[in-house]
Amino acid sequence: MNLGIYVHIPFCVSKCLYCNFYSENKLEYINDYVLALTKEIKRESKKYTQYSIDTIFIGGGTPSVLPAGCVSLIVNAIKQNYNVLPGAEITIEANPNSINYTNSAEWFSAGVNRVSVGVQTTSNRVLKIIGRTHTYQDFFKAIDDLKSVGFKNINADIMIGLPTQKQNELKATLRQCFGMGLTHISAYTLILEEGTPMCGLVQQKKLKLPSEEKTLGMFKYLLKHTELNGYNRYEVSNFCLPGFECKHNLNCWNMVPYVGFGCAAHSFVENFRFGNISNIERYIKLINQGKSVKAFNEELTVNQLIEESIMLNLRTTKGINLKDLKQKYGYDLLKEKSLEVMELQKLGLIKLENGYLFATTEGFYVLNQIILKLVD
Ligand SMILES: C[S@@+](CC[C@H](N)C(=O)[O-])C[C@H]1O[C@@H](n2cnc3c(N)ncnc32)[C@H](O)[C@@H]1O
Ligand code: SF4
Repeated sequence: MNLGIYVHIPFCVSKCLYCNFYSENKLEYINDYVLALTKEIKRESKKYTQYSIDTIFIGGGTPSVLPAGCVSLIVNAIKQNYNVLPGAEITIEANPNSINYTNSAEWFSAGVNRVSVGVQTTSNRVLKIIGRTHTYQDFFKAIDDLKSVGFKNINADIMIGLPTQKQNELKATLRQCFGMGLTHISAYTLILEEGTPMCGLVQQKKLKLPSEEKTLGMFKYLLKHTELNGYNRYEVSNFCLPGFECKHNLNCWNMVPYVGFGCAAHSFVENFRFGNISNIERYIKLINQGKSVKAFNEELTVNQLIEESIMLNLRTTKGINLKDLKQKYGYDLLKEKSLEVMELQKLGLIKLENGYLFATTEGFYVLNQIILKLVD
């Protein structure tokens, strides 16, 4: 059976105003953290001897701030202790101003074969407003460095609905990503997370978000132009050239098991969801004492598994494999929800084709309402 591995790097040089992911500026802990991480990777390996690893995702935080040698240490610790399949997808997340020729070359020779670069926008004006520390020029150079060492599969994370962002700026961002021949674009609509500095600034009217209508207009522009340029939408926010889907994320939406290592990393294995503590110092201390770093561990009931499958599968354009759902959990969605399915079909929000139930483009705009109808 296949298993994905996620590794969390909880360090960022500075915090972006909108971000709610677990990361801190405690760079002085990096070396101890990476050592603890390799210990966790090794000590947990006994539990996963029956699995083959088809994807590894080193995410953050900002993995590209790791000093020379760290990424190789992490990848080697995984390769030495797990059955990593030849050709496994190995992704690293990176920020434009911490990518350079030297670290790109190290990642490439360690076996990393996919890089996800967070640019968010190529407007230097908007980058400054949202608290990013890089410029468009850094992004351009980063892509150049990555390509020059041999990377062919490169994603850009971009954002829509950023404070004061204009459609022209999104157009330029997309044009530049297409022009660089990037294989993948993740386009996230800004979520104003409670407790982030941006949320406070918007509430105090010190920052202004584009209207819902403008944000929707930008998203529609993105849908049209990604398609015109040969990118296929395979998930709510993810677009790629043919064959360049992110296997790791696709597996998560398809309920393939994955195990997470490092602070705040989550796992889904054998119907259990569990996750590690979000505290760098405690994580290092507990690992060095040989103690558990789990913050929670929950076994999902069959009903929860069915709900999660429906919720996660529907994020993908392929949708829910109805036969699979029935085989795995004995649940016949078409029978149990026949009225709801009929109603959603009539409204043009979902379709049934070749044994799959999936949201239409119109349906994706109201995905949460569809999910609410299809789960109890
Ligand atoms: C957790 S970050 C890690 C990657 C890297 N540190 C970076 O900033 O590019 C992954 C992506 O999540 C997206 N993201 C983070 N906070 C978000 C928010 N509040 N709303 C929408 N997207 C968000 C950004 O596009 C970001 O690139
Ligand atoms: S968006 Fe990326 S760089 Fe910015 S704070 Fe979050 S994880 Fe760090």
